[in-house]
Amino acid sequence: MSSVRVSPAESFTLKISEIAPDKSISHRSVMFAMLADGVSEIENFLRAEDTLNSLEIVKNLGARVEDDGTLIKISSDGIQEPFEILDCGNSGTGMRLFCGLLSSAEGHFVLTGDKYLRRRPMKRVTAPLISIGAKIDGREKGDLAPLSIRGSSLKAFHYESKIASAQVKSCMILAALRADGVCTYVEPELSRDHTERMLSGMGADVHVDGLQTTIKPMTKLLTPLKIRVPADPSSAFFFAVAAAITPQSSIILEGVTLNPTRIEAFKALERMGADISYELIDNKYEPIGNISIKYAPLHGITIEENISWLIDELPALSIAMACAEGESLVKNAEELRVKESDRIATVVEGLRACGIEVDEYKDGYKIVGGELQSARVESDGDHRIAMSFIIAGLRCGMEVIDLECINTSFPNFFELLEKITDMEIS
Ligand code: S3P
Repeated sequence: MSSVRVSPAESFTLKISEIAPDKSISHRSVMFAMLADGVSEIENFLRAEDTLNSLEIVKNLGARVEDDGTLIKISSDGIQEPFEILDCGNSGTGMRLFCGLLSSAEGHFVLTGDKYLRRRPMKRVTAPLISIGAKIDGREKGDLAPLSIRGSSLKAFHYESKIASAQVKSCMILAALRADGVCTYVEPELSRDHTERMLSGMGADVHVDGLQTTIKPMTKLLTPLKIRVPADPSSAFFFAVAAAITPQSSIILEGVTLNPTRIEAFKALERMGADISYELIDNKYEPIGNISIKYAPLHGITIEENISWLIDELPALSIAMACAEGESLVKNAEELRVKESDRIATVVEGLRACGIEVDEYKDGYKIVGGELQSARVESDGDHRIAMSFIIAGLRCGMEVIDLECINTSFPNFFELLEKITDMEIS
């Protein structure tokens, strides 16, 4: 199991254009290409374990993929029954969205994943899919992977989800595209909306009205996708926190999606006192631009709404909260418990190891800002926990164990971190 020792950072001024491409958009781009009539072109696809697994799966489903290392071209004659078991690796997004895509396809499909993914709840997608006629089974009565899907015809639905989850919403939108009538999906709070934006851009009849999405089944194949994947704000956020906790530092993060459902953590950091500005440079499927972050003394805040807009950034935001003056409170974030690790437990345990006072609740935590101390923290196989505590090390030095997981979303993380501090990887 590899580990890294990070040294405290001196002040820095940086501009980074190589933040890893967006994971959510990369997954979707290769899946949605299977629904198009013609060749989809994807530039700046995220070449990390999670999304490369999705690319491998679409190949197994019969897609023709040409990849020159810069541009990926995908075409297909529809979904074919695969010879292989479909391995989603560590990716909940991969598994849940493929459930929606495959439920109505002709054939038999088996979806599996690594030991972490095989522990994560799938009933949130298998139950609504089964209720509209999907034939899915898995361990624990269909809650845990491996999942077996026998494609079948799906009924039109009106589904009101209790969880604000883009994975559940996207799964059901994909199912709706081939259901036997108009479908409506309602969520309790708006979750990230890449699926709606991308499918509408491809000509699908997907209409969003507040929290309700109405989907008309496809009457013909969609227009191929032509996309350059923007940088991932969730990956960029580690470097935003790096600048926000290192006195006299500033950073510009280039080419990031500025989709409002994805940059809430930057807004939270702004509320804590960091000096942040946004520059819009493009708008195709999504607004895209640069984010500048300058150090300023931070103070504690409460986070209790729009949780799904910053769910992936909460571990890194917790590091900023630990460095802020006063108390910070995170509430209504129970979903953190079913991410790549139980992120309430891993954040609380890691911060306590660093000498920070933290109270743990069922749906969040309270952090009393203080002086971070150097510690040895285990990632629990969770990429965002590993990267968050490495960033904490910029303040006080840190040893973080179990780093392979970082390759699921941000393979060039250490290359970029080297611009800020010294480290020893073993
Ligand atoms: C994602 C949605 C979120 C997020 C995950 C990616 C997506 O999960 O945590 O990293 O691409 O749809 P939930 O929808 O389950 O909250």
